[in-house]
Amino acid sequence: MSKPTYYITTPIYYPSDNLHIGHAYTTVAADAVARFKRLTGYDVWFLTGSDEHGQKIQRTARAKGKEPQEYVDGIVAGFKNLWARLNISYNDFIRTTEERHKRVVAQITEKLYDQGDIYKASYEGWYCTPCETFWTERQLEEGNCPDCGRGVELLQEESYFFKMSKYADRLLQYIEEHPDFIQPVSRRNEVINFIKMGLEDLCISRTTFDWGIPVPFDPKHVVYVWVDALTNYISALGYGSDNDELYRRYWPADVHLVGKDIVRFHCIIWPIILMAAGLPLPKKVVGHGWLLLESGKMSKSKGNVVDPLVLIDKYGVDPIRYYLLRELPFGADGYYSEDALINRINVDLANDLGNLLSRTTAMINKYLGGVIEKPAGGSTDPLDQDLIDLAVATPREVERLVDNLELSAALAALWQLVGRANKYIEETAPWSLAKDPANRERLVMVMYNLAESYRFITIMLAPFMPDFPMRVWEQLGIKEHTDLHTWDSLEWGRLPSGIKISRGAPLFPRIDTKKA
Ligand code: MSP
Repeated sequence: MSKPTYYITTPIYYPSDNLHIGHAYTTVAADAVARFKRLTGYDVWFLTGSDEHGQKIQRTARAKGKEPQEYVDGIVAGFKNLWARLNISYNDFIRTTEERHKRVVAQITEKLYDQGDIYKASYEGWYCTPCETFWTERQLEEGNCPDCGRGVELLQEESYFFKMSKYADRLLQYIEEHPDFIQPVSRRNEVINFIKMGLEDLCISRTTFDWGIPVPFDPKHVVYVWVDALTNYISALGYGSDNDELYRRYWPADVHLVGKDIVRFHCIIWPIILMAAGLPLPKKVVGHGWLLLESGKMSKSKGNVVDPLVLIDKYGVDPIRYYLLRELPFGADGYYSEDALINRINVDLANDLGNLLSRTTAMINKYLGGVIEKPAGGSTDPLDQDLIDLAVATPREVERLVDNLELSAALAALWQLVGRANKYIEETAPWSLAKDPANRERLVMVMYNLAESYRFITIMLAPFMPDFPMRVWEQLGIKEHTDLHTWDSLEWGRLPSGIKISRGAPLFPRIDTKKA
């Protein structure tokens, strides 16, 4: 039987500058979901990329004395390096400057024009000459350009408009008939209210700069960045080309994961483009919250940008991934601080997760000569049953939460099991059992239950912290037993008898807060 498919995307990032920890959050979250779905038997396609056109990028490049393409090539190489360092398992990376993308944008724009959904009209806006940018009345700050603070003038420009208004009712109906389309509910309500206020037609071309995809029927215009950018989700699958196997296999997407600031583009402009083009809509758009700083929004000018590469060098990849995924509750904002990060490492990873393994392996060494034995009979002790019941129930719960993209809650559910296992050590007090050889059978049972629980925890944690499992398998002595690493092996009692453990260095050394 062929596997069910699962297509997940991240936004494509602007290469106007290097990425910061906020961007890393979106991509790490998408990666954890992609890995989880692969682990649980799905045929996954995970797409990310870069959104390279537009005036801002053209201007930034010029300010650095570079051609736009040369400039973005350098920045995009940096994106790819960051994703490699963060263990991001994307299947494809789409760049909007690639031929395969430009072709589809031109094709769709042409189709909409031919069917009468695009028309020419004059566009009026507040123009900042030094910045060469049009702003709407609302974007101005105290009547001035929001970028440079200088004066603006009211100007008119000929532009092409897309008849969004024509599709507003159909979109509203679609959203109402598909309660899961936009998540969380708060974002869904925002989008519904916005559409109900009335949709204006969208200006989809510009003539004030040329770093973009030419409008096919009037090449002195370039296509407005959002129409260009959103199309990446299907151009990357080969839509409209001879080689559209991926499109046929994976579209419509299961999830577009995006930040809350770009939910509207994904829930209004994108579905309407697709409707107009006669294509199916994505199944779900999930808008996550933002990672904030006490000092406000991260920006170069404020000098408060948090560089993920620095954090990876300092603390390692798995801890950074864990922190990001754990810290932001589903859909809500969270505050970043290095103290909170260190606290997560010291408490959740070093104390709870790391110590559970080191205590387990230390006791197996000391009391059972370093060999895991499988108890001959079943257990009659309610303490054992309590731990086993939780271990067996947790995979389903974690799976349910990951399917809803509630990643922080999924980790919390996993930590319930970690906590339960740590408590089990206190309750069973193996050090007392070890005093009397008559208790050997009980000791075997307790050690087995701990090792088997840890195997469960490790399998479930793999999508969140991809480097962690190998280190555990090594210590538990089952590195070569790959059949014990799979989701299907989450059946209690699969760990065989006679496994020789090999104690190793602590998984997550404590961070000395004074030194850090
Ligand atoms: N290029 C557009 C997306 C086009 S998708 C067809 C864009 N790029 S972006 O680089 O500005 O932002 C990309 C993503 O990063 C967005 O989802 C945005 O919400 C997210 N984040 C940017 N700063 C963030 C935080 N501080 N915290 C969490 N996510 C943040 O928008």
